[in-house]
Amino acid sequence: MKSDTCYQQCIDPDCGAKLGAGETHIACPKCGELLDVVYDWDRLELPKRLSDFNRRWASRSNPLDFSGVWRFRELLNFCDDRHRVTIGEGQTLLQRNDGVGRYVGLREGRLFLQYEGLNPSGSFKDNGMAAAFSHARRVGARRVACASTGNTSASLALYAAHAGMQAIVFVGSGRIAFGKLAQALDCGARTLQIAGDFDACMRRVKQAAQRLGLYLMNSVNPFRLEGQKTIMYRVLEHLGYQAPDWIVAPGGNLGNSSAFGKAFMELKALGLIDRVPRLAVINSTGADTLDRLVNAKKLRWNGGRYDRQALAADWKWQDDTHRLPHTIASAIEISRPVNTSKCLRALEVCNGVVRAVPDHLIMDARAQVGRWGLGCEPASGASVAGARQLVAEGVIGPDERVVCILTGHSLKDPEATVGYHTGQWAAGKEVAGERTLANLPIPVADDLEAICAAIESAEPTAAR
Ligand code: F0G
Repeated sequence: MKSDTCYQQCIDPDCGAKLGAGETHIACPKCGELLDVVYDWDRLELPKRLSDFNRRWASRSNPLDFSGVWRFRELLNFCDDRHRVTIGEGQTLLQRNDGVGRYVGLREGRLFLQYEGLNPSGSFKDNGMAAAFSHARRVGARRVACASTGNTSASLALYAAHAGMQAIVFVGSGRIAFGKLAQALDCGARTLQIAGDFDACMRRVKQAAQRLGLYLMNSVNPFRLEGQKTIMYRVLEHLGYQAPDWIVAPGGNLGNSSAFGKAFMELKALGLIDRVPRLAVINSTGADTLDRLVNAKKLRWNGGRYDRQALAADWKWQDDTHRLPHTIASAIEISRPVNTSKCLRALEVCNGVVRAVPDHLIMDARAQVGRWGLGCEPASGASVAGARQLVAEGVIGPDERVVCILTGHSLKDPEATVGYHTGQWAAGKEVAGERTLANLPIPVADDLEAICAAIESAEPTAAR
């Protein structure tokens, strides 16, 4: 790689500070805004068309060509091959799913699920970690840290163990999904349980990173988002490089939606796609900051000159009213999304919309995904519930091609899934509302007659 073909730049056009790609920052040192990774495309080798990437399949015994992130490396070319970290992330599938499509209200062949639960640690985060760890290697980082509700910490712990770095994760006490805690502990991460929620952990990890010189792996790290762009490259790859009409994704810290917007912005500028899909970002009604900012307060990117005071006023209002997020979808239980500004840009690039859906519909949609043979954790259900709401509103037409991003595996938050099916929710996690696909376990005596009778007589407990 030529040394100066990539740099970091502040996204505020009135600041525009430029910093080297070999530096580590989580915000612009001049003005505090987020940073982008920017490429000097004219000086980089690029494929003539996206389908040229298909050739890498033939050389997949090279781990970089096998990786669903690095096989697109010309589009995230910020380090040399020797820095690139991979554990086989991004072997994920875009699955046409007519069963879920009918539930959403789309015609046959129109709904696709991009299942990121197939990643090594079970979520989309591995796309971002492959990239961020490669940058961490480039800058010689030894200790890496994140705040997390589960998936980020599990992913960071796996990659740190692989890359030989010390992992430090901040989780809200009692707020991390058990299976995800298991992954972090198992991979040797130093796990700090902070008395507070995700937003509190995020604040603290930033402070600790600054004081101790830890390399921060949350999505304020612009290199992490470079890896998450590849989710969109794979969607395009599976659709023969024809952009779908809609991408629908859950919105938490808004890293994914920001990365998706950047991916399409770059591909369009490079002439590698001729059309950009529309983007729908879905909040839970219990953690609806983006929905409020965009729909009630009409906050817009405005060429980078968005109303920064309106954002600060919302944060203050949350403080003054002691407003805390609460949703069964723990991955998106976030009320101060760190990537709000970049997400506003993505919404502009993709002519996007934002919606908030209630938890009982998130859980119902999540159950539909399981019923039709895939499975996902609750936040992913928000994509499907959001798509369904947008079809009902007439914003998405029944003939449009829609890709819902399933961000994580169904083995995150399993107590929520069991609560949905049995009606026995974990304390403080009850979700009111109809459970249309509830599938109850059947208690049976240890007796063959009774067992056979239960098998034969059992009505399907939930109709499709
Ligand atoms: N879906 C899943 C499964 C997640 O784990 C997260 C974030 C999101 C969606 C939200 O994505 O931030 O890009 O809008 N999980 C973080 C974590 C908070 O700690 O694992 P976003």
